[in-house]
Amino acid sequence: MKVLVIGSGGREHALCWSLAKSPLCSELFCAPGNAGIASVATCVAIAAEDIEAIANYCGENKIDFVVVGPEGPLVLGLVDRLTALGIKSFGPSAAAAALEGSKGFMKDICAKYKVPTAAYGRFTDADAAKTFIRQQGAPIVVKTDGLAAGKGVIIAETLEDAERAVDAAMTDAVFGDAGAELVIEEFMTGEEASFFVLTDGVSALSLLSAQDHKRVGDGDTGLNTGGMGAYSPAPVLTAELEKQVLAEIVQPTIDGMRAEGKAYTGVLYAGLMLTPEGPKLIEYNVRFGDPECQVLMMLLKSDILPALMATYDATLDQIDLEWHDEAALTVVMAAKGYPGSYSKGDEIGGLAEAGTEEGVVVFHAGTKAGDGDQVLANGGRVLNVTAKAPAIAEAQTRAYAAVDRLDWPGGFCRRDIGWRAIQRG
Ligand code: AMP
Ligand code: GLY
Repeated sequence: MKVLVIGSGGREHALCWSLAKSPLCSELFCAPGNAGIASVATCVAIAAEDIEAIANYCGENKIDFVVVGPEGPLVLGLVDRLTALGIKSFGPSAAAAALEGSKGFMKDICAKYKVPTAAYGRFTDADAAKTFIRQQGAPIVVKTDGLAAGKGVIIAETLEDAERAVDAAMTDAVFGDAGAELVIEEFMTGEEASFFVLTDGVSALSLLSAQDHKRVGDGDTGLNTGGMGAYSPAPVLTAELEKQVLAEIVQPTIDGMRAEGKAYTGVLYAGLMLTPEGPKLIEYNVRFGDPECQVLMMLLKSDILPALMATYDATLDQIDLEWHDEAALTVVMAAKGYPGSYSKGDEIGGLAEAGTEEGVVVFHAGTKAGDGDQVLANGGRVLNVTAKAPAIAEAQTRAYAAVDRLDWPGGFCRRDIGWRAIQRG
């Protein structure tokens, strides 16, 4: 079977690495891919959001199955376009991808189907938004309705900060069209965890829990990023809590989406706040987390391809996944300056040496091939140094041992990935 993966990050490298092991996968392609992905798949120079070019490529090259990594092409309707051409794919339709593409839509679904989440209001008018903010009081959370490259969430400590956020989004349009509508919601407290399920629109197949580290600095300080590291499983999400999340949050959403005529298929990523009143949904993502996917793929024992295909074929109830009874942890190596401006083009040395550490795989997140076998930094998040071990502390030791074998003076990483789980013991 010919499989095409869409995307170019560490998540897509991990998916390609996993798919390449499938006996069902005879040829693997990735559009556009990166220097690491090129070692397991044939990279195709098509941008992830170029829907027409992807559709044409699939037709011309008789691709049997397309695995979509990022949310962008999903929200733009890639799966709908492929379905119309009779090409199978992994990921939701555009209508279902609105669970991530429109926070207001997601909140309305939660309200209608009684999924526990923060109380909220939806606004297209700045004055009405500010009146609501004054009624609710601070702290309060201001979110753009649309996708804003992970920057559209403002946690406002004061009323003034919240009102400024409204003006920035609505009057100054700093988030473009994404901020024309706002969701303003209750500030929740608790520890965060993520939970991933595959779904075919009817049944949910649990994957694992994970925790990421969104802040750029050690001790969870500094600016928000796409994620500086992750580990799985997240010990804070006990088996009992997982059951509760499935029964109260995930399954009602899947059933609700089907009832709305927008059956959701693919992977559903629930971002959770474990509040004193129980788990509540912060947000849904319609794709695997990045870098959470990397740790999930490290722990997966079974062939991933039949499971991904079953989400399309509506046969997920026949799939049983086996996992290594171990822990995995990934450390993101980023270019100095990230999440602000950074330079590209540095040569990265020591990749082969890093990969020889026990239990370690180095996934590429933002790299491109230079001359010969040179690998060059080509993004903000550049490498995901990922380790598997019997316990989380050991996985951390292995990952940092590999980090220390890299030769890249222009890069940096957090030194405390996994601290919460390790402290918990
Ligand atoms: P999101 O982009 O929706 O994942 O939000 C980014 C981060 O903002 C989350 O990981 C939380 O740390 C925080 N956040 C979002 N919504 C809330 C909320 N209602 N209460 C507290 N923190 C939140
Ligand atoms: N690591 C967070 C995300 O993928 O959204």
